Amino acid sequence: MCGIVGILAKRPVADLLVDGLRRLEYRGYDSAGIATLTDGKLGILRAEGKLNKLAEKLKRETLSGTIGIGHTRWATHGKPTESNAHPHATDLVAVVHNGIIENYKQLRRELELKNHAFKSETDTETIACLLSDYLQQGKTPQQAMAAALKRFDGAFAIGVVFAGHNDLLMGARRGSPMAIGYGDGEYYLGSDALALAPLTDRISYLEEGDWVEIHHDGVIIHDETDKVVKRKICQTALSGKTIDKGEYRHFMQKEIFEQPTVIADTFSNYVTSENTFTLPKLPFKWKDISRLTIVACGTASYAGMVAKYWFEQLARLPVEIDIASEFRYREPPLPANGATLVISQSGETADTLAAAVYAKKQKQYLLAVVNVPQSSMARLADVVFPTLAGPEIGVASTKAYTTQLVVLLCLAVEAGIARGNLTQQQAEKILQALREIPAHINEVLREEEKICELAKSFVDKNHALYLGRGALYPLALEGALKLKEISYIHAEGYPAGEMKHGPIALIDENMPIVVLSPHDRLFEKTASNIQEVSARGGKIILFSDKKGVAAIGAAAFWSMALPSVIMEVAPILYAIPVQLLAYYTAFAKGNDVDQPRNLAKSVTVE
Ligand code: M6R
Repeated sequence: MCGIVGILAKRPVADLLVDGLRRLEYRGYDSAGIATLTDGKLGILRAEGKLNKLAEKLKRETLSGTIGIGHTRWATHGKPTESNAHPHATDLVAVVHNGIIENYKQLRRELELKNHAFKSETDTETIACLLSDYLQQGKTPQQAMAAALKRFDGAFAIGVVFAGHNDLLMGARRGSPMAIGYGDGEYYLGSDALALAPLTDRISYLEEGDWVEIHHDGVIIHDETDKVVKRKICQTALSGKTIDKGEYRHFMQKEIFEQPTVIADTFSNYVTSENTFTLPKLPFKWKDISRLTIVACGTASYAGMVAKYWFEQLARLPVEIDIASEFRYREPPLPANGATLVISQSGETADTLAAAVYAKKQKQYLLAVVNVPQSSMARLADVVFPTLAGPEIGVASTKAYTTQLVVLLCLAVEAGIARGNLTQQQAEKILQALREIPAHINEVLREEEKICELAKSFVDKNHALYLGRGALYPLALEGALKLKEISYIHAEGYPAGEMKHGPIALIDENMPIVVLSPHDRLFEKTASNIQEVSARGGKIILFSDKKGVAAIGAAAFWSMALPSVIMEVAPILYAIPVQLLAYYTAFAKGNDVDQPRNLAKSVTVE
């Protein structure tokens, strides 16, 4: 969840470290810091708040040195203050860390008894103190690292520099990703390859349990048994160009407007203009699969819930969908001939990754829908289905979600044909509707102003409800999540039919109820629920099509008619107004839309 960069070079590294951190700020942004070595002496600069604070500080207090480490933090242990910001250091070492040292309390007690003084509330400081302890016992940095790593419980990645060692940068990986970059006479460490993209396109990844010593004359990687091992160097296609907002106010707004393009790109990556699939080859036949288990977190899990409706209806394939943090510890029995599908924008979400590892151990075929093709999940999976959304920077997921839906619908249609449940003609109808989705999204985007006006009426609200049925129920959950995470308004998503079993008690004139209901086979059911809410003074905000809007008439306080589409593709189209509503509400409240409080883009801790 935090971002790590390390550089061993022959030129000053402080500014390069901050540049690298800028590309990792999506991983956390509550404080940042860097440490460099000048003539063997450690210099440290840290600042509370966004990275700009650190960059400003660096202008006032320069930090020389040609070797260093940097960190952008998402607080786990200890508040986001300067004293808890990384790097954490003693006179002998400075450490940056992503993840959690689960046994830090016990280690801290042990080290305090040996008179190590702690200055922060973090688990990370135990790494610095334990390494120092071993150094004081006469171990070399390499011996200290090897010994310390065996004492830590939990999932983490670390970067370390040692006082007096201008030629040594060290890193380790357990459960959290870590990439090594190979430049021209210099080397880098990064918690992902994106951070290193402006510096090099030659990357290798540490494998689970690996640790690395980087010197000016080369890189030595050790596995978890300390044996020297080789890891393949590959070329990344990541662009070193700075990703900017262009003409948009926020990345989220830009990403919402990119959807027609990235959806079309993703679709045409998997389906030809003659409606032939170009999906990657599977190691099984759809008709031999007994069950599909879908696991993900947050927005990606709602994409998975939509996919459950699709796979069940189009392919008559039984689907279980689970939240990764529950799945991994529930350790459910998985059927023989089962496949597990993980969905993740980042491909690094710790819980989803652990779920994927579990599924593989249970001998499931592992499929991954990810937006980062070099991610840990992609590297673990038997088959990868990349979404072609491009980098998603806004913390609130938008284009990753809709492109995930595109891939999932293509897969469900392919499975439907293979399992004999869909005719070619039925499949082509769905594919044609998918092909037309970008144009329909453009129509909705042209209504931006109308949703912007609606959002102003949400600003003073404390609560909101989102209702949907069928495959639009997961979108109700997604709409509520979107509103919560960037506007800080409490919101809940419900299946419309469930209102009368409790939530209807919440209804009063202050509660907006957003209803997502195209005029499909379930429309009349939802229309009854709308009447029930409306009769109790609830304010209905209706997103439907022309027919639906006309049918509900004055029972809705506000309504918008979206283009009429077949029900299979409605969850993709209806995502757009839901995203715009959350965006404009957060904007009207003056919130930091792209970096909302307490959140991080990539959740690589449990
Ligand atoms: O990178 P992932 O797709 O695995 O991330 C999963 C969730 O953390 C993510 O979707 C989160 O819920 C978003 N902030 C929602 O907008």
